[in-house]
Amino acid sequence: MPVVTDTADTAAAYDAVAVRYAELFSDVLATLPLERALLAAFAELVLAHDAGPVADIGCGPGHVTAHVRALGLDAFGIDVSAEMVALARAAQPHVRFDVGSMLELDLADGSLGGVLALFSTIHLPPRQLPMAFEEFYRVLSPGGHLLLGFLAGDDPLPREVDHRVAPAHEWSPGVLADLLGRNGFAEAGRLTREPHEGERFRSGLLLARRQA
Ligand SMILES: C[S@@+](CC[C@H](N)C(=O)[O-])C[C@H]1O[C@@H](n2cnc3c(N)ncnc32)[C@H](O)[C@@H]1O
Repeated sequence: MPVVTDTADTAAAYDAVAVRYAELFSDVLATLPLERALLAAFAELVLAHDAGPVADIGCGPGHVTAHVRALGLDAFGIDVSAEMVALARAAQPHVRFDVGSMLELDLADGSLGGVLALFSTIHLPPRQLPMAFEEFYRVLSPGGHLLLGFLAGDDPLPREVDHRVAPAHEWSPGVLADLLGRNGFAEAGRLTREPHEGERFRSGLLLARRQA
């Protein structure tokens, strides 16, 4: 499947802000106990399943990749922005970071124990989200876990939001869980967090398991 123009636009938008993004967000997990709790649960489940490495898809400057590696996961990063990947490689020269799109992952079927997709699918046009879920399903081993980070809304339809970097949509957690269910995932749990001071969106995390 060819990379669509929208994805190329997203890559260019993140290339342009990569350095600033890394300055702002590389240490952000220290201020996010709820997100750390879900990442710890994800890491525990993936380690128990022991079925391959973890891809942090849309990894940005690689700070979450580093966090879950410190939790014991064999994690690597993928991002469509070459500038983000360059920053991630510079920060963690010993770790694998690849340029690539979540819509056409250069990974073998069933080769991963876990997928992290934190606030990266938000930039897909809604019609393309099932394609990303199909790719996550394909590359995960049966029983592997997906942790999806998204902008959480209440509307039954995805709603475009005024994101500062690239077009993005917020989704209702229930609608996303249903969509994951239709793409072979079983929900394990979900979290929504109200915006902190300076943030503009409610965030959500959905933990799901790839069914056989
Ligand atoms: C909001 S940032 C999130 C970065 C990091 N996951 C985090 O939680 O801070 C979104 C990232 O997703 C990447 N991205 C967007 N669309 C993508 C796609 N189709 N494939 C891979 N990466 C993508 C962007 O380049 C950007 O680095």
